[in-house]
Amino acid sequence: MSIVQPLTPGAAASWPPAQPAHIIVIGNEKGGSGKSTTAMHIVVSLLRDGYSVGTLDLDARQGTLTRYVNNRKRTVEAGENLPLSRHAFLQPSEAPVRAEAEAEDRERFEVVFCELLAACDFLVVDTPGSNTYLGRLAHSHANTLVTPLNDSYIDLDMLANVDSSGRDIVKLSVYSEMVFEQRKARMMRDRGAIDWVVMRNRLSNLNARNKQDIADVMTALARRIGFRIAPGFSERVIYRELFPRGLTMLDLLESGESASMSHLAARQEVRNLIEALNLPQRKPKAQSAA
Ligand SMILES: Nc1ncnc2c1ncn2[C@@H]1O[C@H](COP(=O)(O)OP(=O)(O)OP(=O)(O)O)[C@@H](O)[C@H]1O
Ligand SMILES: [Mg+2]
Repeated sequence: MSIVQPLTPGAAASWPPAQPAHIIVIGNEKGGSGKSTTAMHIVVSLLRDGYSVGTLDLDARQGTLTRYVNNRKRTVEAGENLPLSRHAFLQPSEAPVRAEAEAEDRERFEVVFCELLAACDFLVVDTPGSNTYLGRLAHSHANTLVTPLNDSYIDLDMLANVDSSGRDIVKLSVYSEMVFEQRKARMMRDRGAIDWVVMRNRLSNLNARNKQDIADVMTALARRIGFRIAPGFSERVIYRELFPRGLTMLDLLESGESASMSHLAARQEVRNLIEALNLPQRKPKAQSAA
């Protein structure tokens, strides 16, 4: 796999790493679709499997993943023994000229990115719910792209516009076009492919008809624009209530805390997602110290 070269002085000597991290980008330009939540659950699942995991937050404005990771560090400082990711975040450049800002963003991205690629088994990148240069850059480097989607036509509209019957695809959305462009960029750069996986999030038990309609459109879209559909997450309090402690239900269940049926079901949903991602087998590198 050929990737960007490291720019840190001295880092070139150890480049390319024998086993660069597998890059998982979480993306969807629709705000609030569950990107940061999904990112954190994938991260903790990989950490709990013994992997060294890098986390890169490109949503500097909200910094949700950064806050999640910092909350987790505080829980560790308070005495809990938890595996931690090696975390970085990037602020977009404030240079007034676009070309300058993009050059600066690219340079900073490459430094951080290469260091995480060399140090980790997996790198999970959380992107903002808007179209940014850093977000596009990250997409073009993804080995696996995970797009969480709330279970509604408004969210589906981020993938493609459907007609008034809600069943036929009229045209691709700007986000799907962007992924298409980044797939081309990736192919030209290193002949690599992006495995695009779309998962439904916040699924409810209600609205069975609407749920089935959306599933049908997604199946048609998957064929047309080239993504796979993974089992998603249901609407569950446990996906959001552990944020202040930087935990997920995977941590609670590992530490032997008593579990409700909902916790166990949520853990199974996370496991099913990880399995569907079909990530490569890795020989775990050392995790960063707690
Ligand atoms: N499966 C779920 N069950 C319950 N709440 C959820 C679930 N997934 C996400 N949420 C909640 O939905 C909200 C949005 O989730 P999140 O911040 O992960 O989305 P996002 O795509 O990262 O948003 P943004 O585009 O603003 O970065 C949060 O309040 C989160 O706690
Ligand atoms: Mg977010």
